[in-house]
Amino acid sequence: MTKVAIWCRHETDNLIGIGTDIPWHIPSDSKFFADVINGQDVVFGRKTYESVSPKVLENCAVWVLTGDKDYETRCPKADKVVTDIRAFKEFEGDLYIGGGAQVYQAFMDGAPKLMPDIVVDCVYGGAVNAALSGERIDITPCVDIMKKKYFKLTDDFDRDGVKAALWVKKGDFVEQSVLKRLRLLLESR
Ligand SMILES: NC(=O)c1ccc[n+]([C@@H]2O[C@H](COP(=O)([O-])OP(=O)(O)OC[C@H]3O[C@@H](n4cnc5c(N)ncnc54)[C@H](OP(=O)(O)O)[C@@H]3O)[C@@H](O)[C@H]2O)c1
Repeated sequence: MTKVAIWCRHETDNLIGIGTDIPWHIPSDSKFFADVINGQDVVFGRKTYESVSPKVLENCAVWVLTGDKDYETRCPKADKVVTDIRAFKEFEGDLYIGGGAQVYQAFMDGAPKLMPDIVVDCVYGGAVNAALSGERIDITPCVDIMKKKYFKLTDDFDRDGVKAALWVKKGDFVEQSVLKRLRLLLESR
């Protein structure tokens, strides 16, 4: 029953998206994200869900947060709609939180039972695609919460300009099997 948030943010401003796009293209980081969520339960906000390739979600049980109770997912058998985030308080398995900003914030800033136990913090230090237009979406409030309420468990694992590390919520027991899985994925990315 472990909750894991995973994001990749831009180093200087915590940007994670422009409009519906992630404003960089780092194949090793996209693969790492796909490996982390592979075979897992994963929750997205409706906007991110609509921008993620269905191929990446093939082996996942997907939960889509939306205020629209009539929302139809691309694959109603596998991808389920949730309109009240409190439903995740007593979630039975492990849950991976895949964004976007509204959803990270709702979990990080939510009730203690919603807060992720672990954050996979990936930080991209390179240039952002300046050609994109649209709203600039950052997760500074989530990063502030992470720095205050979590401790950094691992060193940075650096690849292709992205530094990734695990952060764990202070004062809580964390399931070792989940940590072990994430460590192995970090080391092999
Ligand atoms: N770099 C990364 O790691 C990363 C990861 C994921 C996403 N992104 C980027 O993030 C951006 C999208 O983020 P976003 O914040 O704009 O959108 P989002 O969080 O993906 O989706 C927002 C939508 O989710 C629903 N929602 C959110 N919180 C809810 C709650 N508590 N209860 C019920 N429904 C809720 C609402 O859907 P309705 O409008 O249908 O009611 C809301 O409009 C994109 O640019 C994407 O590429 C980046």
